[in-house]
Amino acid sequence: MTNVLIAPSILSANFSNLKEEIQAIDKAGADWIHLDVMDGHFVPNLTFGPPVIQSIRQFSKKPFDAHLMVTNPDDFLEEYASAGADMITVHKEVVPHLDRTLARICELGCKAGVAINPATSISGLEFVIDKLDLILVMSVNPGFGGQKFINSSIDKIKSIRNLVGDRNIKIQVDGGINDKTSSKVIEAGADVLVAGSAIFKGTGLENYKKNIDVLRSKS
Ligand code: DX5
Ligand code: ZN
Repeated sequence: MTNVLIAPSILSANFSNLKEEIQAIDKAGADWIHLDVMDGHFVPNLTFGPPVIQSIRQFSKKPFDAHLMVTNPDDFLEEYASAGADMITVHKEVVPHLDRTLARICELGCKAGVAINPATSISGLEFVIDKLDLILVMSVNPGFGGQKFINSSIDKIKSIRNLVGDRNIKIQVDGGINDKTSSKVIEAGADVLVAGSAIFKGTGLENYKKNIDVLRSKS
């Protein structure tokens, strides 16, 4: 059994009741709180930004993991750091100077991550590997919860595992993670599982705990 971390995505939470939802996943055993920020440009959906993150920061001491699905993350890094993000992940597809962006995130006192879409190659990551704390493999096309896991992600996770070697870099998988897909991604080398719909199934602490425990039991 490996020590896989579970990062519930609040995209699938009840937005009218975020305080109780955060407190519930915290108590249910979440390791990180995954925050899906969407801008309606990079992805065809809109969610929330720094003010909401700041307002929910007080409800959990667990690391806040901000996944920025936005075209211009460089313009707002400071806002996410001040709002209380512990980790900031930007998409490789939109950042022209990834090395600079990762250095800036680190300067702001946050852990730095890069996310790659299903059709994006891992090429080039070797040149910024020493600035990375996290590599996020999207196993669906970003934008919505509840989509079907894309199987080619498995080989990509394996390649990243080889690239990372024994460096202290987490490999995170996001999209379509459930009781059936989690064992496959863990076996391929994932360290952190993001899950939205599989964790927020049913409502309330008891259900969330059961759902998190099921994902963890696959490791
Ligand atoms: C997708 C988001 C994911 C999403 C996962 O754009 O980045 O974090 O919420 O949702 P599920 O687990 O339902 O696929
Ligand atoms: Zn995400």
